Amino acid sequence: MFWDQENLRKLIEDRLSGYQIILVSNREPYMHVYRAGEVETIVPASGMAIALDSLMQTCGGTWVAAGSGEADREASTGGDTLMVPPHNPKYKLRRLWLTREEERDYYYGFANSALWPLCHLAYTRPRFDSRQWETYKVVNRRFAETVLSEVNDPRRTIVFIQDYHFALLPRMLKEAEPSLLVSQFWHIPWPNFEIFRICPWGPEILDGLLGNDLLGFHVQYHCNNFFDTMDRTLESRVDLEKFCIVRQARETRVLPFPISIDFNRFEAWARSAQTEARLQELRHSLNLGGLKVGLGVDRLDYTKGIPERLEAVDIFFQKYPQYQQQFTFIQLGPQSRLHIPSYKDLNTTVDYWEEKINSSHAKGRWKPVIILKGHFSQEEVVAFYRLADVMVVSALHDGMNLVAKEYVASRVDGDGALLLSPFIGAARELSSAYIINPYNPEEVADAIFRALEDSPEEKGTRLAGMRSWVQEHNIFQWSALFLQALVHLPKIDQQANGFRHVSYG
Ligand code: G6P
Repeated sequence: MFWDQENLRKLIEDRLSGYQIILVSNREPYMHVYRAGEVETIVPASGMAIALDSLMQTCGGTWVAAGSGEADREASTGGDTLMVPPHNPKYKLRRLWLTREEERDYYYGFANSALWPLCHLAYTRPRFDSRQWETYKVVNRRFAETVLSEVNDPRRTIVFIQDYHFALLPRMLKEAEPSLLVSQFWHIPWPNFEIFRICPWGPEILDGLLGNDLLGFHVQYHCNNFFDTMDRTLESRVDLEKFCIVRQARETRVLPFPISIDFNRFEAWARSAQTEARLQELRHSLNLGGLKVGLGVDRLDYTKGIPERLEAVDIFFQKYPQYQQQFTFIQLGPQSRLHIPSYKDLNTTVDYWEEKINSSHAKGRWKPVIILKGHFSQEEVVAFYRLADVMVVSALHDGMNLVAKEYVASRVDGDGALLLSPFIGAARELSSAYIINPYNPEEVADAIFRALEDSPEEKGTRLAGMRSWVQEHNIFQWSALFLQALVHLPKIDQQANGFRHVSYG
């Protein structure tokens, strides 16, 4: 069955009517910034925020997040709240304001200098600092208070927490209001026990997560790592028949839900006249007339394998000189978390590669590599997807990676080639992509060559399989599966909801 916004809405009406949904994340779905002196709304570069916005637009409710845009305060007309999306409001955004110190120690500190590198195997060492850990606890407590202030009836409220910024929040909420239904999705990988055990506060983190009634990861492998970590760290019973963990007579179900995108939205953007116009404009402004194009789209993050990819592009031009003046590689890389030294270093390394490749191979007006670090809207990114003959998604490790799915959805012409790292969740679903080892730049260079040379039929067949997969396994299906798993928890008052088996087809 195909899930879309309509049958998801019907599911919510039938099974969860009367329930209030409160979503919590660190990153907000809409940020306000100043552009040319005016306040402008932008969608941040966060696959998490973009995907969850589709769910919230369908079910309504409240999204609690940290206000992080420079113009956020000015734009929050109702004090800390405003209705979003701006032009067609569907749900409430409640902003929480962090102090500079809280942002430094909780966001740049424990969340992104300890937990992020701990969960991603990219050989960047996590840094543990007890002051940052204390602030992480304080900020989780502040979010708990904000969420609780939004609850009308705790017996009919679902709290849906996102990501590693809030490992302690579920327990805090449960202790304050045991009747709340608390759930969480962990958007990044969960490491194995050998890796996790170096975290000095591992047991507290695990105990915090067991405040959830339902906890989701992208793939079964991360669930298995979580079960094993739990089994070897905390006194608890891991029940692999029911996929749950029992501790102090409370159950937490742990299940995989591979996240996805709103396929139809990307397809519609890709087909629009506006995209067509942008395509022509880009070809002209970037001097791409008649050239084949390769593309990478990532936040500038060391988990994404960007320097390794650029090294591959350098090898490609050395090994296949016939593609000089015939091929340009574009990397879109909005800057990210720049106060953290490893991100600053990455930024410098990316500049180094850009300069190295261009100074070795550029001729006349032709540039082998173009790196664009600014912010692009989703619609603008779609025009780049349409441009790209070859899309390289070569992350060293990633929970899912929605860029891969966005590219597939945007290739409405049935053409284009996707090169995919096997170390990301998406590789388990998009099995007909060209699989490449991001740690082996020569292999990536050869795969770019092969993808450019393969017949349109070969590429068309690979793409068609992936397109129908993503079309079916879309964000509405992901939301429906997560909500259905919640509905089946014993906590939901199924009688009061007129619980019955209905078809949403
Ligand atoms: C990953 C995380 C998200 C986060 C995004 C952008 O996708 O799973 O929670 O929002 O990166 O990172 P940022 O630090 O800018 O929010």
